[in-house]
Amino acid sequence: MSAHVPVLAVDGPGGSGKGTICRAVQQAMGWHLLDSGAIYRALAVAASRRGLDAKSGAELERLATNLDVTFLPSADGDTRVMVDGEDVTDELRQEQTGNLASQVAAVSAVRDALLQRQRDFRQPPGLVADGRDMGTVVFPDAEVKIFLTASPEERARRRHKQLKEQGVDGNLPDLLREIAERDERDRTRSVAPLVPAPDAERIDTTGLSIDAVVQRVMSLLQDRLLL
Ligand code: C5P
Repeated sequence: MSAHVPVLAVDGPGGSGKGTICRAVQQAMGWHLLDSGAIYRALAVAASRRGLDAKSGAELERLATNLDVTFLPSADGDTRVMVDGEDVTDELRQEQTGNLASQVAAVSAVRDALLQRQRDFRQPPGLVADGRDMGTVVFPDAEVKIFLTASPEERARRRHKQLKEQGVDGNLPDLLREIAERDERDRTRSVAPLVPAPDAERIDTTGLSIDAVVQRVMSLLQDRLLL
């Protein structure tokens, strides 16, 4: 029998701080990281290369099953994402990729096809899982579940700053609108909607520093794992 591997499941809408918090906790714990959004984004890139969209049902499902995506650690501590052997990291971060990802992610057969691939990230000594349905669907038995939120305005501001750091000029009102549209789609879809697991700890990160949120998550984790 394989040893039990603990999971920290972190869910929430885009811009709630999940990515930053997950990376910090993952490094502090020395655990693995699953960026499930990057898998949906990689699928979106592969789909658009093939001229597929969210209406392409069976072809999308096949693509999700056979998706050739790898995550490579890079020298600067970042992760490069390869799809079909091509580095698509920059394309992955674009708003249009996020939008297409959210459309293909609403297809039930696509989510089923990607389920085991995500569960395979659960490797010793532990996993930090970042997404929308980590605590509800992918790892319902996670030791600790967190649901992060922040006001739409704060999330748009964070996204704007992030884009600027990447040298991309984002327009704040457009970002706010796109965030609201994506939230609505993620929350109201019939499969694995963005909802907190009943046993998730909710943290509103509006106005909180990254350090304050990381400390809160670390202390929950330590209490639960009795470290
Ligand atoms: O988190 P990120 O913005 O990279 O995710 C892109 C999109 O992928 C989300 O808007 C969501 O629709 C989808 N997604 C999902 N389930 C996950 C992670 C992401 O449906 N676990």
